[in-house]
Amino acid sequence: MKVLSVVGARPQFIKAALLSEELARRHWQECLVNTGQHYDYKMSKVFFDELGIKDPEYNLEVGSASHAVQTALMMQRLEPVVAAEKPDWVIVFGDTNTTLAGALVAAKLKIPLAHVEAGLRSFDKSMPEEINRIVTDHVSQLLLAPTQSAADNLRREGIVDGVAVVGDLMVDLVRRAAAHVRGRPLPSCIPFAAGTYGLATVHRASNTDDVEAFRSILEGISRLPFPVVFPVHPRTAPLVERLPERPRNIVFCEPLSYLDMVAAEMHARVILTDSGGVQKEAYVLGVPCVTLRDTTEWTETLEDGWNVLAGTDPGAIRAAVERSPAGPVSAATVFPLSSACRIADLLEEACACGRVFVSHFTSAVS
Ligand code: UD1
Ligand code: UDP
Repeated sequence: MKVLSVVGARPQFIKAALLSEELARRHWQECLVNTGQHYDYKMSKVFFDELGIKDPEYNLEVGSASHAVQTALMMQRLEPVVAAEKPDWVIVFGDTNTTLAGALVAAKLKIPLAHVEAGLRSFDKSMPEEINRIVTDHVSQLLLAPTQSAADNLRREGIVDGVAVVGDLMVDLVRRAAAHVRGRPLPSCIPFAAGTYGLATVHRASNTDDVEAFRSILEGISRLPFPVVFPVHPRTAPLVERLPERPRNIVFCEPLSYLDMVAAEMHARVILTDSGGVQKEAYVLGVPCVTLRDTTEWTETLEDGWNVLAGTDPGAIRAAVERSPAGPVSAATVFPLSSACRIADLLEEACACGRVFVSHFTSAVS
């Protein structure tokens, strides 16, 4: 079996890590393609080094550009690679421009496409990620939904063939990483005791293209009566640099490595974020989360108040931080374990079934 995995942005390196490990364990051939959407050391290589991900067979070195130019360049450089490698499967992860480019190239070359994190929806088409998810799902043959609600979203769009609920690679990895970093000292950029600080990340287009939205978030965070550590995504860095005055309780730092980030998350008293992955990790680690958006794709995390949608209003942010979750976190039920193994099993079965495999998985949804 030969699989071609397309990654390019920070969360995709993290999502691909466990699946690559499982494919190697089965002695399958994996051709790893990095589009180079993210390229700073702290947004890219650090994850390969820390998570032991093999060097990609191809780096397309696309870098930053407008959505159309970036996606087009990825497609232009990826097409000959996929055509030459002739994999049994192309695998794409999540909802970035890298995901979209990988999906379109595979679909046009008629190579079976598997989408990890299929079925997530914010129901907000102003988000670039929502467009990427919808298009990718509608051209995929194997739709690997992390949760039942994601599979239900697909069914509502008329997609039932090829859908399977498989859990979540990022959740499995954070569980493993948390066990690994537990008991270690916090990273040096966090000069606070466990449980005494908040952790914030902001990078969504809606919160960074609009300076007022970003300042409103900082105003909310500045009203909190404890320090907040804020690893700055490169998209957000120019906004921080241009601040007339930095709030005194916010400690801005460079993006953290994955293990440092997990340590920072698990010892935070609260997490404030607009990241999809960080919301999910907060939930699994049992840390209350305030989402700096009006919608979330991870609706399960809202149960019992573990995650609250606060948007960008300073008063709403403060109120969301002050509430307490109503019951124990039910992450084990929402995210069953071993998604890498289930994904690999499904890829293998689907390949064995040949072209008619799609109806085989329909029953997994019900
Ligand atoms: C992208 C994804 C988003 C995902 C996020 C994960 C799309 C449309 N968006 O957003 O869904 O949540 O990655 O982090 O694919 N930059 C650097 N160095 C880097 C990477 C980016 O300086 O290594 C800067 C550049 O100025 C670039 C900007 O960040 O223009 C945005 O990068 P881009 O990859 O276009 O989108 P993200 O905001 O990172
Ligand atoms: N992350 C990290 N260092 C940071 C911020 C985030 O390692 O400084 C990790 C985080 O733990 C999660 C992933 O990056 O695993 C989330 O990626 P991001 O927030 O960039 O994108 P999203 O999930 O919103 O697409």
